[in-house]
Amino acid sequence: MVSLIFDLFTNYIPMNQELIPLNYSRPVPETVIQNSEHFLRLMQTRRTVRTFSADPLPPGVLENIVRTAATAPSGANKQPWFFAIVTSANVKRRIRLAAEEVESVNYAERYSDEMLSDIGHLPVDANKPYLEEAPALIVIFKESYRIDEEGFRRKNYYVNESVGIASGLLLAAIHQAGLVTVTHTPSPMKFMNDILDRPQNESAIMLLPVGFPADDTTVPNITRKPFDAIAKVY
Ligand SMILES: Cc1cc2nc3c(=O)[nH]c(=O)nc-3n(C[C@H](O)[C@H](O)[C@H](O)COP(=O)(O)O)c2cc1C
Repeated sequence: MVSLIFDLFTNYIPMNQELIPLNYSRPVPETVIQNSEHFLRLMQTRRTVRTFSADPLPPGVLENIVRTAATAPSGANKQPWFFAIVTSANVKRRIRLAAEEVESVNYAERYSDEMLSDIGHLPVDANKPYLEEAPALIVIFKESYRIDEEGFRRKNYYVNESVGIASGLLLAAIHQAGLVTVTHTPSPMKFMNDILDRPQNESAIMLLPVGFPADDTTVPNITRKPFDAIAKVY
């Protein structure tokens, strides 16, 4: 009986644990401090931008930033994300029209008074010209579950956490490249599956126009919470 259970266990749990040396070279403490300061200073200049130049992007940049996002850790390494990279003027127009339709209903009916008050300091309404003005849009999809080669439904794990981390890396990579974006969430985004021909096990969670800022770009004068309000050293 014990051996039967052992057989079942070893047959059904894959034992493919090939381990390889970590690719890592340890920096000296001064370099660790400098690296963290440089990255902090860089990220402190990231701002959400809602006015874009039509200037094209250097070739390969979109692929690089998406590859960076895909270095994110993920639950059981299932990598439950898909990035639709849109540069076609026709597809951008279809996305803009669908997003504006959803946002018109959001502003008229779905958004609460509290939310409208909370976004009152932002230059936002149901019109989204940046969805056509920006040279590219990246639509981030989460893959709620997988379908294997035999058509069976397979689990993904910690999907929201994994795709959230990948989205953060994408935002950082966009900024680090010298580009700007706005984290746009015209929910519900079911229309993305139709326009971008994505399967039912995927749902769009964010829409990121990517490009250079327009010359006259301004941003809201906001502050970030001080360290003491967001963290505590125990
Ligand atoms: C999950 C999420 C959804 C957001 N949705 C929108 C949106 O639909 N439209 C928009 O203009 N900005 C949106 N934003 C941007 C926020 O308004 C912005 O990050 C915030 O005001 C702070 O400004 P900053 O990014 O310049 O630091 C969103 C941000 C996040 C993280």
